[in-house]
Amino acid sequence: MNVLEEINIKGFVDEYIDPTLDLFAEIERLKKEKNAVILAHYYQEADIQDIADYIGDSLGLSQEAAKTDAAIIVFAGVHFMAETAKILSPNKKVLLPDSKAGCSLSDSCPPHLFKKFKEKYPDHLVITYVNCTAELKALSDIVCTSSNAVQIVESLPKDQKIIFGPDKNLGAYVMKKTGRDMVLWNGACMVHEIFAQEKITKLKERHPQAKFIAHPECEDHILAMADYIGSTTGLLNYTVKSDGKEFIVATESGIIHQMAKANSDKTFIPAPPNNTCACNDCPHMKRNTLEKLYLCLKNELPEVDVPREIIERARQPIERMLEISAKLGL
Ligand code: 13P
Ligand code: SF4
Repeated sequence: MNVLEEINIKGFVDEYIDPTLDLFAEIERLKKEKNAVILAHYYQEADIQDIADYIGDSLGLSQEAAKTDAAIIVFAGVHFMAETAKILSPNKKVLLPDSKAGCSLSDSCPPHLFKKFKEKYPDHLVITYVNCTAELKALSDIVCTSSNAVQIVESLPKDQKIIFGPDKNLGAYVMKKTGRDMVLWNGACMVHEIFAQEKITKLKERHPQAKFIAHPECEDHILAMADYIGSTTGLLNYTVKSDGKEFIVATESGIIHQMAKANSDKTFIPAPPNNTCACNDCPHMKRNTLEKLYLCLKNELPEVDVPREIIERARQPIERMLEISAKLGL
């Protein structure tokens, strides 16, 4: 059985939408009527980002999910993000526009195999990247995101042994930044492993002034070429603060919408992938559309649920991350 069929999602509604309907106005109306909030990740399509109440990276989205007083959270992102929102706000209804919006990185770490892996290292603390299932979080001591992974590892005593999963690329990056050794799970994101070093080198030659910026889910040889490495929010902030006028961006292409909005005088070039496709879209993130968002809000389906027992165990490592991040002002 596919991982996405096993997960806890109630219902899916596929109905005809009158093409003359103003979806933006309808979504705004439904949002008010139902006391709903729309949280969107930067990798969502531009229309969804434009109608969202909050757009952010995984850390920002978890912080918003923890503090919102809306009755319904519509999570325009992927399944693990909606699950995290449910864990932090268990009494709220959490909706995901497309029930099949999964994540290759999360799928690369099945909890039953990770449990066996973890048993081999009984004296290690388990840090998991938020891009994983609720069940995996329930097997962890601390969760992290790409914007706080380095600081979370640094907050632990130097002799603390650590297992880091599921992203081996982020794990290797954290090891390099902190000088610490960690046992890594061998997982990766299909979008961030697609970038072609040779094509990027040629692109840099054609745009010698361009800054090359990359997400830490990219492989080491790509990160080695970068002028700046950071989470989606980190990358966006860098483009605002930098004097550079051109940027080659090695992450999912959705972030370029906000970069272009924040910097009308700057040019953004998606880093070329290692195939003939011209785009760096995440096929999971891009399953959500404005139409599906509208139907999801209207029908209050698909709804994401997490078993109570998992919520209780998964909540602690996420709260630990939020506490450390708050203390560090992240
Ligand atoms: P951040 O937005 O937290 O950097 O995460 C990137 C990502 O791949 C989310 O799926
Ligand atoms: Fe998962 Fe990668 Fe898509 Fe993010 S970009 S949701 S890590 S597959």
